[in-house]
Amino acid sequence: MRDRLLTFFTEKGTLVEPEAMDRILSVEDPIEFAESIYSNLEAKPLVLTMEDVMKVESVIREVTEEHKVEKEVEEIRPSKGGKKTSANAKDFNSEVKIKKDITGNSTCEGTIKDFQKYFKHRFRTLGTMVKRRREMGGCINIARARKKTTEMRFVCIVNSVRDTKSGHQIVEVEDESDVASVLVLENAIGGENIVPDEVIGVIGKSGRNDLIIADRIIRPDIPSRRAFEGCEDPVSVAFVSDTHVGSNTFMQEKWEKFMAWMNNGDEISSSIKYIVIPGDVVDGIGIYPRQDEELSIHNIYEQYEELVRLLEDVPDHVQIIICPGNHDAVRPAEPQPALPNNIRKLFPSEVMFAGNPCTMTLHDVEVLVYHGRSIDDFIGSVPSLTYENPLESMREMLKKRHVAPTYGGKTPIAPENEDHLVIDTVPDIFVTGHVHWVGVDEYNGVKLVNASAWQSQTSYQKMRNIDPIPAMVPIIDLQTGRARIKEF
Ligand SMILES: [Fe+2]
Ligand SMILES: [Fe+2]
Repeated sequence: MRDRLLTFFTEKGTLVEPEAMDRILSVEDPIEFAESIYSNLEAKPLVLTMEDVMKVESVIREVTEEHKVEKEVEEIRPSKGGKKTSANAKDFNSEVKIKKDITGNSTCEGTIKDFQKYFKHRFRTLGTMVKRRREMGGCINIARARKKTTEMRFVCIVNSVRDTKSGHQIVEVEDESDVASVLVLENAIGGENIVPDEVIGVIGKSGRNDLIIADRIIRPDIPSRRAFEGCEDPVSVAFVSDTHVGSNTFMQEKWEKFMAWMNNGDEISSSIKYIVIPGDVVDGIGIYPRQDEELSIHNIYEQYEELVRLLEDVPDHVQIIICPGNHDAVRPAEPQPALPNNIRKLFPSEVMFAGNPCTMTLHDVEVLVYHGRSIDDFIGSVPSLTYENPLESMREMLKKRHVAPTYGGKTPIAPENEDHLVIDTVPDIFVTGHVHWVGVDEYNGVKLVNASAWQSQTSYQKMRNIDPIPAMVPIIDLQTGRARIKEF
């Protein structure tokens, strides 16, 4: 555990006094405690002292006390709607803003020039984030770094990664000035999970044969933050991904159970103000070979019409927002725009449509919605990432500040003038679907959600030994950040 803690703090660029380390080790969950220390410290110290730990402990105590008082006040204080805050979404208007989305803004024609512009924008945006990291002070370009004999720091984009027999990695990188071969040592801090086309910072020194030996890799990452801020109203959002309507494995009965609960449920169901659907809303046509054998509806319009019928049972006060995935009737290359007009007009006018990825605010809480196609590429290129825990791939996306870094894998990417797949603002909630799994977690104050599916195991999943976890609904309380998963 001591080693894990040391790695945790080293990655943040912080040393720990032995006394402070002993205090952290003495609690029940030292890693959770370390994370909360880090997110509650205003300035990140070079050396974490016992005094810092005690300061954070008292902040945590105060917040817990305040929270208790607030809860008690809430019981007796009428809310804005004149009713007690026993969450009822009916009493509040929906407040949705689409902050970032490619819909109507696509510039790409797919020329070589487009690709150059696209990667230049990626390098500039993510490179600036990496340079802002304290560890990258005094960084230079590759051309100058290659002439140095002492320690060097530079920002680069990864061209390729390969493992050596001795457990290290050779990473070919470039920037606007030059290319370089970097030997990332097995025990290099941050050296795990390097993927092609991500933007990284390298700290190292020159070695033999023109190699640069890196002992540290820096990611743009997201800052450690205080916990979820939340909105004023007691409303929540349900994430309902991968409905795959039109497939013969669509789980009709489970859906009906979900709808019955939405209408006659409990305090939680009546708090739901938003349903966000992060893609694969229908099964589509011709998405994979011999798909027609697994369809119950063979016409794309009829698939969407059936989805409209299924959504009719959602209570009127719930705002539905639909984003596309790789099975939907829109260009597969990401960023994907919202579903086209000929599909949208099948839905009631209140239903909202957004692109993939999309940054939106729900009641001022920022939500990054991404279907999750790139999880296939993460799992394909990094052995420690698996279909059993897609939340780990989502953490990587936040660390790399990019939802789909690798070009040329399973995720088709459209070379827009700007890289819309960069995570330029830190969301409060980050949700994906695609892998038909379910889970919630947190990374540096961001709630991570993978939002299940409404399709039982398909023949493709059977062939690849993938066990889906369907008919589950993750729900996040937008006021408190509390996450729940409801099973049907
Ligand atoms: Fe799916
Ligand atoms: Fe998908």
